[in-house]
Amino acid sequence: MGGPFYHTASRTQDLTFAIQHFLVTIDLRSDTVTRPTPAMREAIARAEVGDDVYGEDPSVAALEARVAALTGKARALFVSSGTMANQLALLAHCRRGDDVFVSEGAHCAWYESGAAAALAGVQCVTVGQGALFSPEALVAAVKPTAYYTPRARLVALENTHNRGGGRVLDQAQVEAVAETARGLGLALHLDGARLFNAAVASGARVATLAAPFDTVSVCLSKGLGAPVGSLLCGPEALITEAHRYRKMLGGGMRQSGLLAAAGSFALEHHVARLAVDHAHARELAAGLGALTGLSVETPETNIVMVDLPAPTASQFVERAKEQGVLISAFGPARLRLVTHLDVDAAGVAQALGVLRAVLGARP
Ligand SMILES: Cc1ncc(COP(=O)(O)O)c(C=O)c1O
Repeated sequence: MGGPFYHTASRTQDLTFAIQHFLVTIDLRSDTVTRPTPAMREAIARAEVGDDVYGEDPSVAALEARVAALTGKARALFVSSGTMANQLALLAHCRRGDDVFVSEGAHCAWYESGAAAALAGVQCVTVGQGALFSPEALVAAVKPTAYYTPRARLVALENTHNRGGGRVLDQAQVEAVAETARGLGLALHLDGARLFNAAVASGARVATLAAPFDTVSVCLSKGLGAPVGSLLCGPEALITEAHRYRKMLGGGMRQSGLLAAAGSFALEHHVARLAVDHAHARELAAGLGALTGLSVETPETNIVMVDLPAPTASQFVERAKEQGVLISAFGPARLRLVTHLDVDAAGVAQALGVLRAVLGARP
């Protein structure tokens, strides 16, 4: 309690009382926290289903065909999560002992429980700093070919970049990296958990953003607001391999058309509205950026990164939680706030009021 930039106890208690009694919780920890809307639940209830392990679920087949077309790839495979999509890509592209080149803070190196090493048996090599490295940095990271060096096999990028604060990758630079990677004999995978955010923010088509890559994963359960599901998209031969690995990992699902129907609904109704989340993120950033002591990056999509002047992120998160606003600590002095379908303009205003109050008064 207390700390360098918190309210005095009595004012905090008043505010806590008001918020707990009159306002709802605003959850800005992640865009994965959304709950299916009533219309999405209806679409789920209406879904035609079959046994997808037998390849007989029409709703899954329809979703896979739609996402293959959207990403411009020959085939798409419906899987349970973004993590599974990324791991299937690593398994399909690589052999044990291979080097996979990733950017700083890559999800597949940070947040997939070490699966790249444990399942595919590859090592992730971080290249450069920030969300995207240069072609030169990639060349420098590839080890000389010898029986005693790992085989350079895959470049895996992330768009938008989560730890990079929802950055949209510069497409010209992506193409330059891809050209260099091809020249080095490397394959390319894109973690597109938030590729629809990147497309909406940049005005580019999803297929254009995915074009330099052999495989691309997209998530339905982040900004798009579906409860479960991701797809791995790519050429027929690689997706055939991924399909085998999906079963091997226990990812074959039976009447998964219920989930696919939610995903199809999300693609029909929740893509264009991502622009609203981006506008909300800019509002949050502008409001927080105006407060003394905070350093706030201008968001490109729905993720706002905030740097505190001291390593008090976890206390800040706790105090905001007491006041009904959930946010994440992303380092000792760094916070992450994510806007989504379940936070409207009033929620943004409420969150700003609480965060200002938590930060604003010094003892
Ligand atoms: C960039 C990125 N890739 C992959 C994932 C993994 O998705 P899932 O939580 O569905 O496994 C996430 C999750 O937030 C993510 O942000």
